[in-house]
Amino acid sequence: MTSMSNNLLKIEDLTVRFHGLVAVDHVSFQVEPGTVHGLIGPNGAGKTTCFNLISGLIPPTSGRAILAGAPLVGPSWKRTRAGLSRTFQNIRMFQEMTVRENVMTGMQARLHASVPEILSRLGRFRKEETAAKVRADELLEFVGLAASADRRAGDLSYGDQRRLEIARAVASGPKLLMLDEPAAGMNPTETRELVELLLRLKQDGLTLLLVEHDMHFVMSLCDRITVLNFGRKIAEGTPREVRENPDVIEAYLGAKVAERLKGGTA
Ligand SMILES: Nc1ncnc2c1ncn2[C@@H]1O[C@H](COP(=O)(O)OP(=O)(O)O)[C@@H](O)[C@H]1O
Ligand SMILES: [Mg+2]
Repeated sequence: MTSMSNNLLKIEDLTVRFHGLVAVDHVSFQVEPGTVHGLIGPNGAGKTTCFNLISGLIPPTSGRAILAGAPLVGPSWKRTRAGLSRTFQNIRMFQEMTVRENVMTGMQARLHASVPEILSRLGRFRKEETAAKVRADELLEFVGLAASADRRAGDLSYGDQRRLEIARAVASGPKLLMLDEPAAGMNPTETRELVELLLRLKQDGLTLLLVEHDMHFVMSLCDRITVLNFGRKIAEGTPREVRENPDVIEAYLGAKVAERLKGGTA
């Protein structure tokens, strides 16, 4: 199917109200296929809430998200099947499972067997299990965790857990991968390796939508950036256009001053 407009993800007038607060306020933007698109803004701007709306964790008050021409509806697992995958700001994984098993849980959208079935040696899906293992090991190789496949996930270093999360998110075979602050808490070496990994995913044809605080990271990785502040879109463009936008500069400076005032150091 070919689409006239060149977008993989289309966000239309997305809005959510939490009691009095409009956390996401009539936001519209588009993500072009094969690009890395950044969603940035000061703390509390509504970035994670935007992700939660797109991935179906919370219902919007109004507006919608369209993936490859089809409106995203229903619970998260349905959206995963439609080609959407995400990671979380706070790492979510099965600490007690092995690294490989964690990646295999990401494949459930693809496989016919349920996760317990996949993981049990008694499953009716031995062939599928073997194929899943092979695929999991390929993904682990890709993210640089092949040597850790049999380790307990909870024993990995922080940076490695972040990479495992990405492998698991990619395991569902998404069209669009959404990453919420993937570099948070990483040291400079881990961050550099992450940039490399994400660029390799892009080279493989994956489209990325990412939220990130590290400006250097965002600017070096993104093709286009959408900026939110207090739930509203205030700017959009190339990294350079956004960096030079007076509204963006003001939003970030304003947030910094507010933080200092809160800390009592201003
Ligand atoms: N479930 C919720 N109920 C009420 N308020 C929420 C909820 N989730 C987020 N918020 C509020 O919405 C605003 C945006 O939050 P969030 O999307 O997490 O910001 P960001 O990810 O940009 O830092 C914040 O003011 C936050 O407190
Ligand atoms: Mg957030």
